[in-house]
Amino acid sequence: MGTFYHGDCLFVMRHDITPNSVDLIYLDPPFFTGKIQKGTWHPEAMEISYEDSKKFWDEKANVMREKAPEWLKHIGLKQPEFASYLYYMMERLEACYHVLKPTGSLYLHCDWRASHYLKMVLDEVFGYHQFQNELVWYYQTGGASKTRFSSKHDTIFWYSKSSKYTYNWKDIKISRTEKSLERAQNPKGARIAITDTTKNPDDVITLNQMNPMAKERVGYPTQKPEALLELIIKASSKEGDTVLDPFCGCGTTVIVASKLNRQWIGIDIDTSPRAKGKLPTAFQVIQNRGHALFDIANYVTRDLGEIKEMDGNTFESWVNEFYKATKPRPDKGVDGITPNGIPIQAKVYLIKYPVLSEFVTNAKLHHAVPKPIKEIIAVSQTGFDDSSRKRKFEIETADSIKVTLETPESLLESA
Ligand SMILES: C[S@@+](CC[C@H](N)C(=O)[O-])C[C@H]1O[C@@H](n2cnc3c(N)ncnc32)[C@H](O)[C@@H]1O
Repeated sequence: MGTFYHGDCLFVMRHDITPNSVDLIYLDPPFFTGKIQKGTWHPEAMEISYEDSKKFWDEKANVMREKAPEWLKHIGLKQPEFASYLYYMMERLEACYHVLKPTGSLYLHCDWRASHYLKMVLDEVFGYHQFQNELVWYYQTGGASKTRFSSKHDTIFWYSKSSKYTYNWKDIKISRTEKSLERAQNPKGARIAITDTTKNPDDVITLNQMNPMAKERVGYPTQKPEALLELIIKASSKEGDTVLDPFCGCGTTVIVASKLNRQWIGIDIDTSPRAKGKLPTAFQVIQNRGHALFDIANYVTRDLGEIKEMDGNTFESWVNEFYKATKPRPDKGVDGITPNGIPIQAKVYLIKYPVLSEFVTNAKLHHAVPKPIKEIIAVSQTGFDDSSRKRKFEIETADSIKVTLETPESLLESA
């Protein structure tokens, strides 16, 4: 069993995934096509799409100017949008690096649009010497060009976090029929023998993209074939290892990881239109595709829109899950207590002066809240008015208790 997260993988990797805990990361992010990638999920006949365009990374442009390496800033002078895309990728690849075990590996799937610079980004993040392979996924499917050579491959870069990494070539070896000249035992002379041997696969993988009739095809835009993931997962992880896909789409990686007895984590931001109360489309597709795999109990949201829609009880459970807090029983006005003893109040409505007053009194009286109280946390789905800020100041000065006021927006910016 693993976990699915709905949200930006940057936040999830920083907030939810233990550093140095993942054995293998495969990521197939937007390729900088500048388009909205569209598909139709069958059998539901629902449109599924994701943004691969400016809107997604444009806001990063200003931050990038401060923190990016010089070469990336330089690209920004001529191609600002491309530079923001690269910076967007750099931040996420850095987060990947932090969650990988020292023995872990990362496979980044991309194409000609950005592969040349993404390799430079990977060199920045992992170090030039941690590059292991540039895999070429060659396919014959797709259109043909008459103005240049037809583009028939994607690129997958493999980097390891250190020189100690997993490579199980025996699990992915391919057979080759080799003609070998064998000296016959027979003293009368030599004879040609056909021997079936195996070999380590080459870095060019010939495998067709899924045709429209392929059984595994669900209609998700840019869905990758299971066979490709099988090769990567078998090569760079063992049974029981943890495999993470931060851009998991319709879940190809996690489905294959689960079949191969690996633990898994899948993250997707899914921005396609979603009916209220329904799972985001990508996760509905996964649920439909691998029933045993998907359970609502292992689905965690880090999506603002979804959190803002929650009712009181769901929101309270979400806040407790976010802080890894537990609800005391009886609660007596304290909705949760964090592992280090901080009481939490979670409300869907606007928090005002009396609500905060009541909370601090309840926390002081509650037997399960460790004393002396150093901090209290109030989380409101709607926000706080000026009177609550006044009360915060009073509690902090009179009681020497730190009062932390949070909203879903501030929590999702916290990592
Ligand atoms: C190329 S598709 C992945 C397809 C996947 N390999 C499969 O086989 O289904 C890219 C996915 O990345 C998701 N995505 C884009 N930006 C993201 C982000 N910041 N965090 C998490 N997912 C993101 C999109 O919603 C989309 O599903």
